[in-house]
Amino acid sequence: MESPTPNPSQIEIMKNYDLPGVAALHAICFEDSWHTELLGKILSAPGTFGLFCRPHGKTMGFVICRSSGQEGEILSLAVAPGVRRNGLGSALLDAAKAHAMTREIEALFLEVAEDNMAARRLYENSGFKIVGRRPRYYRRRYGPSVDALTQRCGLISTDPG
Ligand SMILES: CC(C)(COP(=O)(O)OP(=O)(O)OC[C@H]1O[C@@H](n2cnc3c(N)ncnc32)[C@H](O)[C@@H]1OP(=O)(O)O)[C@@H](O)C(=O)NCCC(=O)NCCS
Repeated sequence: MESPTPNPSQIEIMKNYDLPGVAALHAICFEDSWHTELLGKILSAPGTFGLFCRPHGKTMGFVICRSSGQEGEILSLAVAPGVRRNGLGSALLDAAKAHAMTREIEALFLEVAEDNMAARRLYENSGFKIVGRRPRYYRRRYGPSVDALTQRCGLISTDPG
């Protein structure tokens, strides 16, 4: 049985010892999974941070970002299949934005597959706008490659949008 609906107030900063649970969820959510060691390398890079939600000891969602100067990038975001459409994805995105602002990041970027409508709606609702496209960026094990859409969200109130 899936764990009960996670509470967004349980979002925490990811530490190295949290990575096995994050890697297990990543493997469920993505074709190209990031194992614990790889996640450790990513997280140890300067300017990188991760946030995650682990109610009752089971990782239910995470977001990983990196920054360079005043720009940040969302590297990965996922929510466990059994608890989707309960607001955790939005809560993780909001928490990532808030954390980025404490690091004086002025805009967040991300790349999303053009056919990933769930993620695209989530990002659109959260204020991200399409600013670019990378043709056939995502290679699919089954089926043709898919374009990546680059999206941007300004974090400061004077951002032109
Ligand atoms: C994308 C993802 C993180 C969304 O997480 P979530 O917890 O379900 O998101 P939320 O509940 O906060 O949804 C927020 C909004 O996003 C949109 N949305 C989310 N899932 C959707 C779906 N399956 N279909 C259409 N819209 C969807 C809706 O507008 C939703 O608001 P609503 O429920 O009030 O209609 C989750 O589906 C996931 O982990 N997918 C697999 C990994 C992935 O694709 N990550 C993104 C890579 S770029």
